[in-house]
Amino acid sequence: MDLSNAMFDTIKRDLEQLEDELLAAVDSPVDIVQEIGEHLVSAGGKRIRPALCLLAAHGGPDFELKRLLPLAASLELIHTASLVHDDVIDEAGTRRGVPTANAKWGNQISILSGDYIFAQAFRLVSAKDYGNYIYHRLAELVGDLSTGEIIQNRQVYMASRDVEDYYNRIQKKTADFLEICCELGGVVSGMPKEKTKRLAEYGHCIGMAFQITDDILDIEQTEEKIGKPAGNDIRQGIVTLPVIRALNESPDREELERIVTDSDMTDEMLERAISIVKASDGVDFAKARADEYLQRAREALPEDLPEDIREAFLMVADFIAERDF
Ligand code: IPE
Ligand code: IPE
Ligand code: MG
Ligand code: MG
Repeated sequence: MDLSNAMFDTIKRDLEQLEDELLAAVDSPVDIVQEIGEHLVSAGGKRIRPALCLLAAHGGPDFELKRLLPLAASLELIHTASLVHDDVIDEAGTRRGVPTANAKWGNQISILSGDYIFAQAFRLVSAKDYGNYIYHRLAELVGDLSTGEIIQNRQVYMASRDVEDYYNRIQKKTADFLEICCELGGVVSGMPKEKTKRLAEYGHCIGMAFQITDDILDIEQTEEKIGKPAGNDIRQGIVTLPVIRALNESPDREELERIVTDSDMTDEMLERAISIVKASDGVDFAKARADEYLQRAREALPEDLPEDIREAFLMVADFIAERDF
């Protein structure tokens, strides 16, 4: 079974409408702004954040698609804007299988486009009366994303072996985001507090696993498969869980440390670093941590969700365990 398709089957129609909402949100009378917005939205992506929000909302008593769509779209736009900025920082040339904004229009336009998309996200939600709590959480989300990236940036080419540090930054970069998507879907559709809390815990746990598996893909996969540069974390001096494990355990750990702390890393050095990590148990170790988080996520799911929604959330966890893109 192709989990990436099946997991969102129950909300297929919602997601089709989401695409229209996204395109409308980046509409602009200024040609270049319009072109960039369209390029970014039509490149697609997994849409996992708005999907989680919609799935959560289906579990509440007051679900109403029209009311949910701007929130779901704003979550995807915040994600898109953060990726536009992330690709400038990571000097990435591809994303979702197409050229990045920085590759097409340069860094300056990309930073400004990211700002523009953040603004459109907040414009969308401000048009609905969601209440202060939702706005507060969205602002916190952008704060967490930036903080996570700042912490990461301060540690590049340092071969930091601190696992707690790693968990802390992936929580801010990714887990907080997936948590907020689940939580806010529940809040807007009137879900009881206790149930929403359990869904938020589910979101946190799949978020931790999602970033760990993203970091594994960077080591194991090709650019064709993941639609973005492979091996780019090590090249950029970002030390992820499999690498931390290899820095601690590999017989070649001293050579690995020399490579990952060298900002003039050549392609050959990068290849060598990847092969050292692959020869170690770094990837297996990271997979085992991701699996633990996914098990915690499954256990956090409220039992009394509608069956198809519960099933979809379980499939998302399975997808993260097995994903190769
Ligand atoms: C990429 O997120 C950034 C991470 C947090 C790993 P996704 O893997 O959800 O990216 P798209 O939206 O599918 O392109
Ligand atoms: C996630 O980290 C980026 C953000 C949360 C903005 P990555 O740097 O690992 O994401 P990719 O691999 O570029 O998609
Ligand atoms: Mg990146
Ligand atoms: Mg990555």
